[in-house]
Amino acid sequence: MATPHINAKDGAFAETVLMPGDPLRAQMIAETFLEGAEQVTNVRNVFGYTGTYKGKRLSVMAHGMGIPSASIYTTELVKDYGVKNIIRIGSCGAVTADIKLRELFIAMGASTDSKVNRMRFNDHDYAAIADYTLLRTLVDTAAEQGKKVTVGNVFSADLFYGVQPNMLDVLAKMQVNVIEMELAGIYAVAAQYGARAAGILTVSDIIPTGEATSAEERQTSFRDMMEVALDAAIK
Ligand code: HPA
Repeated sequence: MATPHINAKDGAFAETVLMPGDPLRAQMIAETFLEGAEQVTNVRNVFGYTGTYKGKRLSVMAHGMGIPSASIYTTELVKDYGVKNIIRIGSCGAVTADIKLRELFIAMGASTDSKVNRMRFNDHDYAAIADYTLLRTLVDTAAEQGKKVTVGNVFSADLFYGVQPNMLDVLAKMQVNVIEMELAGIYAVAAQYGARAAGILTVSDIIPTGEATSAEERQTSFRDMMEVALDAAIK
C-alpha cells in the first residue's frame, strides 16, 4: 500500500536500501550501478529505484535533507514496505583538521542537537548507534578494498547554517569527528521499527579551515564510497 510519501507497490523495495540525500543522486546511482533498475516511487520527486547489483536485488532511494525528512522516508520504508537494512551514503564536514578531505567515515554513533530522540525516550539521552553487523560489514568491505576509513561518532545537526561558534570545540573535545544532518534520526527509526541501519560518509569539507572538495574530488570520493556501500549491501 502506498504511504503519504511513497507511491511504490507492495514488495517494490529490496530488503536493503541505499539512501543518499539527493533524489538526483539516487537516480544517478540506479542508472550507473544497478542493472535493470526501475523507478518505484516519485512522490515530491524523491525518487526510489529497485534493480540488481551483482545479481542481488537492491534498492536506492533518497531521504532528503535533515532528520525530519530522513525519518519520514526511513519509517515508511521499514514499517510499510518491510525494508530490513538501510545504508545512508552521504557527505559530512570534518570538525578537526586531522580528518582529511575525501576520507571515508563510518558512523558508529550519532550525537545530535535534535530533540527527536528525547521525544522518543522519555526526555532521556538515547545512544543512537549503527547496527553492529552492518557497521562491521561496511568496515570489513572497505578493508578488503584497501580503503582507509575512520569509524566514529558523528554529530547530526539541525542547523546547517549558524551552528554555535563554540560547538566545534565541544565536538572535538568529545571526539565527535564529523557533522552531517540525518543519522541520529535514521538510527533511532531503525531501532524503533526493528531494522538495521548504518551510514558511510565522504568528507566534503573541513569546517574550521573552510577547505572543500572540488567537483572532481567529490566524484572520486563518491565512487570510493559507492564501491564500499554496494559490496557491503549485498553481503
Ligand atoms: N554540516 C552539516 N552537514 C554537512 C556538512 C556540514 O558542514 N558538510 C557536509 N554535510
